[in-house]
Amino acid sequence: MRSPALLNRFCSLSILLLIAALPGAFAQTSENSHPWMNPKLSPDERAAMVVKQMTLDEKIQLLHGTGMEGLSPISPLAVHSNGGAGYVPGIPRLGIPPIQMSDAAYGVRASGVNGRYATALPADVAGAASWDLNAAYDYGALIGRELRAQGYNMTLGGGVNLTREPRDGRTFEYLGEDPVLAGTMVAAVMKGEQAQHVMGDIKHYALNDQESGRNAVNVNIDQRAARESDLLAFEIALHDADIAAVMCSYNRVNGDYACENKYLLNDVLKKDWNFKGFVLSDWGGTHSAAKASHAGLDHEEPGWIFYSDELKRDVESDKVSHAELDDHVQRILRSMFATGVVDDPPHRSVVDVIGGFAVAQKIEEQGAVLLKNDAAQLPLEAAKIHSIAVIGPHADVGMISGGGSAQVDPPGGNAIMPPGHGDTEWQEQIWFPTSPLRTIRAKAPYARVQFDSGADPDSAAALAKNADVAVIFVYQWESEGMDLESLSLPLHQDDLISKVAAANPHTIVVLETGGPVTMPWAGQVNAILEAWFAGSRGAEAVANILFGEVNPSAKLPMTFPRSEADLPHPTVVQPPPESIPHHGGPEPWKEIAAGLAPFQVTYDEGVKVGYKWYDAENKPVLFPFGYGLSYTTYAYSGLRVGGGGDPNVTFTVTNTGNRAGAEIAEVYAALPPAAEEPPKRLVGWSKVALNAGESREVTVNVDQRFLSIFNVQKNAWELIPGDYTFMVGGSSQDLPLKETISLK
Ligand code: BGC
Repeated sequence: MRSPALLNRFCSLSILLLIAALPGAFAQTSENSHPWMNPKLSPDERAAMVVKQMTLDEKIQLLHGTGMEGLSPISPLAVHSNGGAGYVPGIPRLGIPPIQMSDAAYGVRASGVNGRYATALPADVAGAASWDLNAAYDYGALIGRELRAQGYNMTLGGGVNLTREPRDGRTFEYLGEDPVLAGTMVAAVMKGEQAQHVMGDIKHYALNDQESGRNAVNVNIDQRAARESDLLAFEIALHDADIAAVMCSYNRVNGDYACENKYLLNDVLKKDWNFKGFVLSDWGGTHSAAKASHAGLDHEEPGWIFYSDELKRDVESDKVSHAELDDHVQRILRSMFATGVVDDPPHRSVVDVIGGFAVAQKIEEQGAVLLKNDAAQLPLEAAKIHSIAVIGPHADVGMISGGGSAQVDPPGGNAIMPPGHGDTEWQEQIWFPTSPLRTIRAKAPYARVQFDSGADPDSAAALAKNADVAVIFVYQWESEGMDLESLSLPLHQDDLISKVAAANPHTIVVLETGGPVTMPWAGQVNAILEAWFAGSRGAEAVANILFGEVNPSAKLPMTFPRSEADLPHPTVVQPPPESIPHHGGPEPWKEIAAGLAPFQVTYDEGVKVGYKWYDAENKPVLFPFGYGLSYTTYAYSGLRVGGGGDPNVTFTVTNTGNRAGAEIAEVYAALPPAAEEPPKRLVGWSKVALNAGESREVTVNVDQRFLSIFNVQKNAWELIPGDYTFMVGGSSQDLPLKETISLK
């Protein structure tokens, strides 16, 4: 929250500026006086023409934000902010509109507090679990529409850090452990957003894979492993979509902070990947002017500690060249033209609430993963059930959501909001008002459906004992700014499940988590559904799956390990006291900007993230990457692999059960031994909708890049000649088809 007193002091100045910044001021610009307004010119040409007209001060103004309480001083100009995390004034005389940025990971952040409405979608990880590019596009398009309706022209969503450390408190904001899946999916989300004429952004570049000590930690990783894992997700995303911006992360990588890391920014992102957009720092992630500028940072957020007076002095003294400065400016303007935010600025409008709920529900229906279904426990047949025990914290009123800067104010209010408590606070647990108890009652109107919060496991077990079926909703909350202490469900929920399962042989567990949890009770229950943080219509979607109106089709975007002991690192490395800013002090941001004492985290598992680790180490898992059940069954046959540039992998999928469904058919490759890679990697997939008994032949074109390794000496991707084994099936550990071809 910004300080109202501070803002009022500058009100009169602001009114003058506001008049200049009204949309009309931009509309008056004609193509004669402003030839860059000609949309037939390329975004690069248009941007270059504007750069030529700009004064040094105008250029500098575009390279930084206007402040945020707690993280930097606040500029008087911030009064024009729309209330989002970032605001950059426009240049009315040149027809350049301001940039209004909002966090928007699973919906537009802080809408309620700004008096507006935003749909809360299921968490990003649920979108990834759909493996569905259309769903990902719809996810982004909805966010883009709602950003525009609220007057924003830039998103800060697009989290695509790999689940290298599953205890990372932001796992729910990301898209799983595989770079091909995560990169491809985030590109589709960004295409959907940018089609609405808002600037997209992917983050946090790079290797910000734990929250503990994120402003100080130095991540050590070898170059090849970095390029083939976390960086590859970004590379794929930027290859597939012309994304406006990349947010560099808080942490250090191999010695330098990510936002002044020449290797990450200039060498890889801008040179090797030919990225044309701009790099903005995470909030408070800038630590220098000249060094960061030389390394490739284009824009400082949220304030102007380095990218204002200091950068200007550096330009005037030739420490930073005019060409370097202009390149930063050009990139920002180019992204504004390329995404249409200049030609088609946002108009505030009313959000389609019902339409948004429908999208949220559909994505949850496509994203909830059925992990276990013994004795065909699911789907439930309402007509045959006389009593249901619904158990679990707040399952009578709501479902949990993910916190931090991703937090969406709950449409309809916080389901457990104490009276007189109107807005959402940082790191407060928010329950969306989507009631499992109510939706289950609606599906089984003739059954006796009773509720127990589970606070006393014995009372819950007693209720379950007398019911035909027990459905337990358990949760593990996650948020930015913290990591999980462990992968165990908190609040004795493991004990609750065990006691209920002992009392009722027809127990179904619904997990509301942002990532994997351990399940000591997995053998005791009949069914397990991973619902993730399920969004505003989570309970409706879950009930549709439980009662069979929707046939589940999602697959895990990350491995669920059997125990923490099997993870590459037994614990999350915690920062020593000298690496923690003194948040009690008046200006912790000064300490952060100056750079906190580094502590080391070494990712010596390298490229072996997720299933690649468990495969290589021969460690059995609880549920593998790519795994998920359906109410029907599928068979695979007839594999043919065509060689040549990008191999074609052709096979047939048959629905062998008695109801329609959609199967995510996965293609993995084992590289020749000379490549020295983990046993296999995902190289493609196809989601195939099939009626009962139907067969379909599918071809997956495998991009040769996905079969390559990164050669550090040559600084290039390289296909190692030799035998490649392609494996096809329904999960990373169920691959019935195999064929080996030789590639050169
Ligand atoms: C987060 C970013 C977010 C930014 C602005 C930072 O703390 O790491 O993901 O976009 O704040 O709210």
